[in-house]
Amino acid sequence: MIDQKELSIWREAFEKYGACELPPTLFEPTFADYIRQTSKAVTKHYTGLEKGNSVVKGDNFSKGTYNSFLGESFLQFFAPLYSKIIGKNLIPTYSFFRTYTKSNSLSPHKDRPSCQYSATVQIDASENTVWPIKFWTKTRDIITTLNGLFSITIYKGEEILHWREPLEYDYSTHLFIHYIDGDDPKYKHLAYDCRSSCFEIPSDKSELKLNKVHKEIFGIPK
Ligand SMILES: [Fe+2]
Repeated sequence: MIDQKELSIWREAFEKYGACELPPTLFEPTFADYIRQTSKAVTKHYTGLEKGNSVVKGDNFSKGTYNSFLGESFLQFFAPLYSKIIGKNLIPTYSFFRTYTKSNSLSPHKDRPSCQYSATVQIDASENTVWPIKFWTKTRDIITTLNGLFSITIYKGEEILHWREPLEYDYSTHLFIHYIDGDDPKYKHLAYDCRSSCFEIPSDKSELKLNKVHKEIFGIPK
């Protein structure tokens, strides 16, 4: 159970910086272990659609999956708590599952409008060591995450520049989950990334709609 005082601290930090790291104790160890074990199956077997331009650099591969079953369930699961923390009616847009390997880095970037409110969590790694994500905050400071596995970091993906330095160990697996404010008339068009719900497999039709929304509502190409 999270008390009101803790929620207020997180909300204040999020409003001030545009990013806030939540403690790994948010998750029961058995739940975290279940997610970690499931992630190994996703990394090994799932061959979903990778989407968008990659900002991942480095000589080694990284394996990414748009809307994996694990990502989508986590996206649904975390929506009520994230909504409560920031005081918004968050609607899921999409999830991304990625396993990075040694030397991969993440170029400084901002994300597309479907990432109005984002979160990232490291769910498995070859070493129990944090691979920090860094943010250029609203206060013009650089902040870096301090905790490792199962410390969720919430951030405004579309607004706040974020990056990672090269990974120094063998692999690190992450979930990225993205939401929009369902009460925001501009962003509500991006609910479920233009699918009818989470778990719906993206189609040519949803992709066309997504491109149309980017062009006509946001005036940018996807
Ligand atoms: Fe990003």
